[in-house]
Amino acid sequence: MSSQPLAGKFALVTGASGSIGSAVAKRLAGDGASVLVHYGSGREGAETVVREIRQAGGDAETAGADLARPDGPAALVAQLDGAFGGRFAGRLDVLVNNAGGIAMDLLPDATDEDFDRLFNLNVRAMFQLSREAARRMTKAGWGRIINMGSIFGEGAYAPGLSIYCGTKFAVQGLTRGWSRDLGPKGVTVNNVQPAVIQKEPQPTDGPTFEAMKRFTSVGRFGKPEEIAEAVAFLASPKAGFINGESLTVDGGWSA
Ligand SMILES: NC(=O)c1ccc[n+]([C@@H]2O[C@H](COP(=O)([O-])OP(=O)(O)OC[C@H]3O[C@@H](n4cnc5c(N)ncnc54)[C@H](OP(=O)(O)O)[C@@H]3O)[C@@H](O)[C@H]2O)c1
Repeated sequence: MSSQPLAGKFALVTGASGSIGSAVAKRLAGDGASVLVHYGSGREGAETVVREIRQAGGDAETAGADLARPDGPAALVAQLDGAFGGRFAGRLDVLVNNAGGIAMDLLPDATDEDFDRLFNLNVRAMFQLSREAARRMTKAGWGRIINMGSIFGEGAYAPGLSIYCGTKFAVQGLTRGWSRDLGPKGVTVNNVQPAVIQKEPQPTDGPTFEAMKRFTSVGRFGKPEEIAEAVAFLASPKAGFINGESLTVDGGWSA
C-alpha cells in the first residue's frame, strides 16, 4: 500500500485548532489527505496548523464556524465546495467529528445553557455534519466518519460530568446506528474514545493530576498524537472491516 493511503482524499477535521484535532489534521495530511482545518473561535491556532502542514509538504486550508449555534454546521457545510479551489466539490471522503466541549457541575447546579451548548456542539453538530458527509460519501461509494467520543461514553468515572457523559454516550449510540445505515454503501463510522490527554499549556503536575494518572495502568496521560494514530488507522483503507466500533485509547483507564 502507498505510504500515503489518503492521497487524493478530502478530509474535514472539526476542532482542528485544538489539541487532539490539530494532531489529527497533521496526521491525516501526512497520509496525503487535503485537510480542511476547522476552528470555532481559534482562527490563529487553525492558521498555525495549516502553516505547519504546508511546511511539511501537505495540503490544508482553514474553515471557521461556531458549531454550538444551531446554524453553525450549515455554515461549515457551505464552505466545503469552495475549499481547495473547488477541487473537491460535491465530495467529502473523511469526516472527523472532533470539536467538543465540557461542562462541570453537579446536577443541582447544572444549567439549561450548558445542556444546550454541549448537546448542540458534541451531538447535534456531529449529526448534521455526518448527514451531509453520508450523502456525499454514499454517492462516491467510499467514506470514513470518525467521531471523537470519550471514555465518559462508557462510564461515569467522576462526579460533575453528567451532561458531558450524556453527550458522549450519545456519540457511541449514533456511531453504532450510522454504521448500520452506511456500511452497505462502503462508508464506515467509528468512535475513538480517549481518556485524559495531555494538553498544552494545561498543567499536568500537582496532586489532582498525579491522582488522575494513577487511573491509567501506564501511569501517564495520553498524547494528542496517540489519538491521531487511532484516527488515522480508522480512516485508512486498511480499516474497511471495522464499522460501528468504539476504539478506547485510554492508557488502560477503563480496563
Ligand atoms: N483532552 C481530553 O482529555 C479528552 C478526553 C476524551 C475526549 N476528548 C474529546 O476530544 C475532542 C477534542 O478535545 P481536546 O482535548 O482537543 O479539546 P480542545 O483542545 O479544547 O479543543 C476543542 C476543539 O473544539 C473546538 N470547539 C469548541 N467549541 C466550539 C464551538 N462552539 N464551535 C466550533 N468549535 C468549537 C475548539 O475550537 P476553537 O478553540 O477554535 O473555538 C477546539 O478546536 C472533544 O470532543 C473532547 O470531548 C478529549
